[in-house]
Amino acid sequence: MQPQPQNPTQHPPADFFAARVRDLAPSPTLAVSDRARVLRAKGIDVIDLGGGDPDFITPEHVRRAAAEAMNAGETHYVSSAGIPALRRAIADKLRLDNRIEVDSNGGVIVTPGGKQALFEATLALVGPGTDVLVLDPAWVSYVPMIELAGGRAIRVQLDPDDGFRVTPDLLGAAVTPQSRILLVNSPNNPTGRVLAEDELHAIAAVAQERDLLVFADEIYEKILFDGHRHASIAALPGMAERTLTFNGLSKAYAMTGWRLGYVAGPKPYLGQIEKVHSHSATCATSFVQVGGVAALTGPQEFIGEMVDAWDRRRRAVAAGLNAVKGLRCPLAEGAFYAFPDARETGMTSMELADLLLREAQVAVTPGLAFGEAGEGHLRLSFATGDDLLERAVERIGNVLGWA
Ligand SMILES: Cc1ncc(COP(=O)(O)O)c(C=O)c1O
Repeated sequence: MQPQPQNPTQHPPADFFAARVRDLAPSPTLAVSDRARVLRAKGIDVIDLGGGDPDFITPEHVRRAAAEAMNAGETHYVSSAGIPALRRAIADKLRLDNRIEVDSNGGVIVTPGGKQALFEATLALVGPGTDVLVLDPAWVSYVPMIELAGGRAIRVQLDPDDGFRVTPDLLGAAVTPQSRILLVNSPNNPTGRVLAEDELHAIAAVAQERDLLVFADEIYEKILFDGHRHASIAALPGMAERTLTFNGLSKAYAMTGWRLGYVAGPKPYLGQIEKVHSHSATCATSFVQVGGVAALTGPQEFIGEMVDAWDRRRRAVAAGLNAVKGLRCPLAEGAFYAFPDARETGMTSMELADLLLREAQVAVTPGLAFGEAGEGHLRLSFATGDDLLERAVERIGNVLGWA
């Protein structure tokens, strides 16, 4: 009999994996939804408020346009930067909605989702020795993208007791000599804040003084409440040449599964990003892009109907959570997330999210997933049915107690 090796080599060994990926955690928001799905498969009635997916189906005219394109044989590779009709529709939209002038030829790249646009731009413009300022709490994928690209994320801790406001002092104190990029997301995921004019001006001033490029993630721009208005930072004086605007059709047109987004801005940056795009995605899906043209150029009333539904749910969720012991829930100004302050419960956000999943069968995202400044908070998506939200709040209150 052959002697067994004492220490059989583990396959694959840990050092087989690229160091930049080995320690990377999977997206925590997707992990919450995955946990909810596993429990549901076991027959447990979990209400999943972890994700960020509109609970509406894409409008019929958009689905029809894409289906017709597919059936007509538009099933081939297309121009890497996107079909000309979609690039033109995006440039028109940016001019009309956002007061941003870009050339549809060289100033726009269509990508499979806004996330891919952010990833490609980060890979193209960030590397070892580059610092990127990220306003914390921040969407879960910015920092991993920066780190995958070899750069360093500098988290600017916003103050929950000041409503997560961006101030010139906070920004000025955070800028390092290696800072090249400042990432801004308004309306914000997870806080639901919409940047006020003075905050936008503070960001623009710091960007100009410290020669920073701004990444403006405007994916929630159409989801606004209580008369809040979205202003694009690229439209401020002197900012067009130092801003890349990121957007997509996922949220405004209920098209998350289609994977359609874009980046727009000055050609020198876009030229570099396009190299990454052509060597990775090649192009966004051909017939999906035809659907994108229909979405951007067709009737827009659908957006208002969704926002009205989310507005109603936003109020119901905030009112419900404010009646729960230890929670304080401001009304979101934009996007579709409630971000209640749970510090009075005395639990960490992880402990609380765990407790709610186990005892209330409600899946929420712990605030820490969005950075240190999010600790003590929870994120709940209200882009789901009224009944489910009502039941979720009821269950949360029954576990934590009513105030
Ligand atoms: C802040 C923010 N940016 C970008 C994205 C990317 O969206 P998509 O890749 O579906 O366009 C999301 C999605 O949740 C988001 O919340």
